[in-house]
Amino acid sequence: MQTLHTLAELRAAVQQHRRDGKRIALVPTMGNLHQGHLRLVETALQQADVVITSIFVNPLQFGANEDLDSYPRTLAEDQQHLEAAGCHLVFAPSVAEVYPDGQELQTLVEVPGLSDLHCGASRPGHFRGVTTVVCKLFNMVQPDTAVFGLKDYQQVAVIRKMVRDLCIPVDIIGVPTKRADSGLALSSRNGYLTAAELAVAPVLHQTLQHTAAAIRNGERDFAALEEQAQTALEAAGFSRDFYRILDRTQLQPAQPEDDLVILAAAHLGRARLIDNIEV
Ligand code: PAJ
Repeated sequence: MQTLHTLAELRAAVQQHRRDGKRIALVPTMGNLHQGHLRLVETALQQADVVITSIFVNPLQFGANEDLDSYPRTLAEDQQHLEAAGCHLVFAPSVAEVYPDGQELQTLVEVPGLSDLHCGASRPGHFRGVTTVVCKLFNMVQPDTAVFGLKDYQQVAVIRKMVRDLCIPVDIIGVPTKRADSGLALSSRNGYLTAAELAVAPVLHQTLQHTAAAIRNGERDFAALEEQAQTALEAAGFSRDFYRILDRTQLQPAQPEDDLVILAAAHLGRARLIDNIEV
């Protein structure tokens, strides 16, 4: 497995694979890889001949008071995991390589509307940072396909919309969330939880399952279900961010006949946890 740090090296390697007629898959990550990320690599290996994983903690998607500086950076371990998983190439650029003119002198890629809802409302500017860097990574790697986790449900929706609106020739694949035995969605930010908080954290997934079961059993008062869930989360020790029953494509408040998804975000100690469930 190769690790490359510059765009020039990456382009040379990709060009060679293209000349050899290989199909290329990209797995964008911010590193500190866990089994959830590795599941994306497994999916990518089924879709393409060459799998490229990018590792880049993207400053543009972090808010001023967020955890950019403390975000875990573990390149050596990440490389070991990726090599064992069968990844072919790691692209780990510096901030200067991705933003040579600085982050203020940027052409930005923005998906209005969808980016302003839910996680976007809690984290202003976050999705503009995500779509800008993902668009840049697509232009750097020029993959045939790119693989994302459905754990970040709104992120996948925003990226699908960007690709559609800008006619970007990359197939987007969404992969189901990998969970611990407790049901807790694996996340790099789980590392911020204390032992006591880790014991509480699975309540987020349990609450989503509970709401989904109520809907499947015919409950249609979505506002009441959302409020019950928020109350249950607070009783367990979370503080509120949002908990919403939505239609899957627009992520707007759902009508009972829609295909539904429930998106949840809640704070637990230092961590902001997100999870979701399709109903
Ligand atoms: P990061 O949080 O490192 O996640 C990288 C990819 O792994 C994302 O597609 C995310 O949805 C997926 N992922 C995380 N936890 C998962 C789990 N438990 N099961 C399945 N997939 C999981 O998301 C980002 O980085 C960034 O926003 C990025 C897209 C790289 C742009 O900077």
